[in-house]
Amino acid sequence: MKQKESFYAARRARLIEEMGEGVALFPAAPVFIRNRDVEHDYRQDSDLYYLLGFDEPDCALIVDSRGGEAKSIVFLRPKDKLRETWDGLRLGVEDAPSVLGVDEAYPIDELPERLADYLEDAPQLLYALGKDSEFDAKVLNAIEEVRGRSRRKVSPPRAIVDPAHLLHEHRLIKGPEEVERMRRAAEISTVAHIEAMKIARPGLYEYQLEAELARHFRTLGAERPAYPSIVGSGPNATILHHRKNDRLIDAGDLILIDAGAEYDYYAADITRTFPASGRFSDPQREVYEVVLRAQEAAIEAAVKDVTLDDVHLAATRILIEGMIELGILKGSVDEILAEGRHTAFYMHRTSHYLGMDVHDVGAYHQGKKPRKLEPGMVITIEPGLYFAEGADCDPRYQGIGIRIEDDVLITADGNENLTAGTPKRIEELEEIVGSSSR
Ligand code: GLY
Ligand code: MN
Ligand code: MN
Repeated sequence: MKQKESFYAARRARLIEEMGEGVALFPAAPVFIRNRDVEHDYRQDSDLYYLLGFDEPDCALIVDSRGGEAKSIVFLRPKDKLRETWDGLRLGVEDAPSVLGVDEAYPIDELPERLADYLEDAPQLLYALGKDSEFDAKVLNAIEEVRGRSRRKVSPPRAIVDPAHLLHEHRLIKGPEEVERMRRAAEISTVAHIEAMKIARPGLYEYQLEAELARHFRTLGAERPAYPSIVGSGPNATILHHRKNDRLIDAGDLILIDAGAEYDYYAADITRTFPASGRFSDPQREVYEVVLRAQEAAIEAAVKDVTLDDVHLAATRILIEGMIELGILKGSVDEILAEGRHTAFYMHRTSHYLGMDVHDVGAYHQGKKPRKLEPGMVITIEPGLYFAEGADCDPRYQGIGIRIEDDVLITADGNENLTAGTPKRIEELEEIVGSSSR
């Protein structure tokens, strides 16, 4: 098997350097049973994958920083001819050190006992307690086991520390190899959005557009969607996380597609909204122009040293101004902001971090203060307006839901919109939608 790229080892080395003396432990994501002997699709835990680049279930990584002789140790499934015939090839213990670039490898069954050995006299254990109770129990048992060895003059760790304050901060600032993967996820997602726009027309079911997205994700080498694709037509566009995708698309509908591919464990997250028939109605166009203006202003505002609160405010002010112009809200921008009246129609934030997880890790605050953007962060910019049926506004706007979402990399001198290739201008959308003869 091919040797893993060296950046995985570099990430472990960075953790070792910053964690202080101790042992860090990262388990694989658990396997979830779907029904009887069928499992849910497996996806490795993002932290483990970040440090190891290994996607088999039933494994764990230990990083031991003690004594100036830092070591990485992996526990994994041993080779097993019969099981491999059923479930596919395994890396196995013997090849793990050379392929994964770790110092030692052992069968996963030996983890409980060996973990206790590693924990002897470790000043601290870095481990994310509370995510996986079955694995937590193994960790706590190992600690108890070390306590039982006290006559051998050994002690268990004094502290169990969540590694998030180090590892998630590392993950938040993307390295060049990560940006490369995010670019690819963005490109694949852009193609899928465009192809879905091309075949969109009244008379299709939402799930047929979902299938078109999935087809292009997989055809272009993405492992899976980064999250369940949302295809909301007509009133469903006003439901933020519409999941069923089972409605028949009607002629006057807007279609909101929120979908992104996951490529080598990195997500894209794109939303586009367009008319099913290829022509915006007047009220749809009026609202669309407001959301697009807000989105463009927020992208422009998203540069280093500003906060996500600033970016959110930039978008929100324009949405409010637009709603005043359309007669949906009355009063001044500042009054409406202070009273929060806009939240009836814009009820979510403008941005989140994006990376291996669609809502990616990393702290949003430093102390109680919102943190500043830094080069290497990737954020979404996704303002929207949602006027549900029966909403408190002119009936001509009811049933309109619009969100526009791009993925933006913060750079040293501004930003780069990774998903700029996905059309969002009205003329572009009107030209593309329904242009396929299929
Ligand atoms: N697709 C989920 C989100 O936009 O946050
Ligand atoms: Mn998003
Ligand atoms: Mn989204």
